[in-house]
Amino acid sequence: MGHAESEVLDVERLREDFPILQREFGGEQVVYLDNAATTQTPEPVVETIADYYRTTNANVHRGLHQLSQEASVAYEDAHDRVAEFIGASGEREEIVFTKNTTESENLVAYAWGLNELGPEDEVVLTEMEHHASLVTWQQIAKKTGATCRYIRVDEDGTLDMDHAREIITDDTAMVSVVHVSNTLGTVNPVSELADIAHDHDSYIFVDGAQSVPNRPVDVEAIDADFLAFSGHKMAGPTGIGVLYGKKHILEEMEPYLYGGEMIKKVTFEDASWNDLPWKFEAGTPVIAQGIALAEACDYLDNIGMERIQRHEEQLAQYTLEQLREEGDVETYGPSVGTERGGLVSFNLDSVHAHDLSSILNDSAVAIRAGDHCTQPLHDKMGVPASARASFYIYNTREEVDKLVSAIDDARQLFA
Ligand SMILES: Cc1ncc(COP(=O)(O)O)c(C=O)c1O
Repeated sequence: MGHAESEVLDVERLREDFPILQREFGGEQVVYLDNAATTQTPEPVVETIADYYRTTNANVHRGLHQLSQEASVAYEDAHDRVAEFIGASGEREEIVFTKNTTESENLVAYAWGLNELGPEDEVVLTEMEHHASLVTWQQIAKKTGATCRYIRVDEDGTLDMDHAREIITDDTAMVSVVHVSNTLGTVNPVSELADIAHDHDSYIFVDGAQSVPNRPVDVEAIDADFLAFSGHKMAGPTGIGVLYGKKHILEEMEPYLYGGEMIKKVTFEDASWNDLPWKFEAGTPVIAQGIALAEACDYLDNIGMERIQRHEEQLAQYTLEQLREEGDVETYGPSVGTERGGLVSFNLDSVHAHDLSSILNDSAVAIRAGDHCTQPLHDKMGVPASARASFYIYNTREEVDKLVSAIDDARQLFA
């Protein structure tokens, strides 16, 4: 049965596309709950990479020979496919392939921020930003004399929107905000924030690393000026990220990296820049990864992003309910029944998250433990680290039950 016909995911069928899920450790089949870090890669995407190297591999935009032409067409078309996936009507011109979300953030911070920001400007972030955005804007602010301000996160893990309205002012040049928090699971009101930013002639950069892979995202409905995400969190390969930017802004921006591919005309004195998006893709680009990312978009769309969102939300709610039944587990972020992304961060009383994670590993349950690249947020939460279970299309309620039972083992061990 095709997924398109049913309300729920045919998870058993989907799992066949992911042979890695059959791996066993100590006789236990792996329960992979670290999807917010990296998702697994389905066979059609693995096949696309292998097929590219078997049949089409060549450098792009440089050869007049048949292989180079085929590789170039596939690579360019991949930009259009990604544009379609996030509703960017400017197609390939608005889609820059980078290495990951982090590089997309740095691209804008350096190419736009370094040139446009000054001591009178403010960059508004949130207290729940990932280091990819927080550290990047902090450092660019230091270089330019600009000031970073942070929208407060309330006790319930949501943004204090009154505070947002207070600190986004005519001095704000950039609002950089995470769409779905990788620590709290909070889904931020990015289109409302975009309206506030635009009312003050500021740009808005949306970190879509935890939203684009997991729910329908339409950049034009949000009215994001920039949006970033990573291929390896959405059933695609590592080594590729995406920067979406509105065409007129990308056109005005200076390049980020210099070299081959990104130029139009070069003399001993100067150079002029290539058309979008190639102006921002210096050197030999991420050809195989880009083509495979387009395949991942097909794969996810074939399942249906709404269905994926619903599936993950149900698993997250189920996990929250299970964990909250225990008096000794603290969970973070929006409470049961409130909208959240497909992840749950938590701590078991008196057991450090790292210890918990390694005990779960004994039962082949893979979760993440640490600060999840949100150290200032963890400081605010009053804990050095948390454990995080994060879900994707192939996870099941039975796997959540295994997680809960492995947590119980840890509880016994430390009792
Ligand atoms: C919200 C968020 N932003 C940014 C990143 C950085 O992604 P990457 O490591 O692929 O650059 C991550 C992933 O770790 C994330 O969860």
